[in-house]
Amino acid sequence: MKISEKEKRELEDIYQSFLHDEKILKMKTISMHRGSNCYIHSFKVAKTAIRRALRHRKGNLHTILIGAILHDYYLYDWRADRSKMKSHLSHHPYIAAENAERDFGIHEPIKRVIKSHMWPVNFTEFPKTKEARIISLSDKHIYAKEIFCSKRFKAKREEKYLRQIDTLFSW
Ligand SMILES: [Fe+2]
Ligand SMILES: [Fe+2]
Repeated sequence: MKISEKEKRELEDIYQSFLHDEKILKMKTISMHRGSNCYIHSFKVAKTAIRRALRHRKGNLHTILIGAILHDYYLYDWRADRSKMKSHLSHHPYIAAENAERDFGIHEPIKRVIKSHMWPVNFTEFPKTKEARIISLSDKHIYAKEIFCSKRFKAKREEKYLRQIDTLFSW
């Protein structure tokens, strides 16, 4: 998909405003897989999803960008809170969608892509739109890369990841 410079700038501005938003920065405190955290993970998914959408000429780029950034905006550490451990896998998309609506006023299409990103774990939430499928696939792609990293050099990797998510259109 070819996009104009103007559209590119608009998407980059949205990306940057989320990247520096203090509510979003809280996701840094939520650990994720090896050397990653919820903040890094979410922006990596957003970059991958946008790249995929451009390559395959599919989907509404605004919905993909914002949906991907907020897909794991659940804001609790399930590793620290044993009560959430069991239900986390299937419940966190609903919590993320509610939090995102409360904090960023997102509308239904974006809520839908957030809710369906865990398919097929959440079997009833099939990703029905192109945008939802791109986010769900990108999430799995990044997740697989993160869990196959070794535990060594965790700190160094975090620094590298932070550099990688600095801008939307760098890959
Ligand atoms: Fe998730
Ligand atoms: Fe995720």
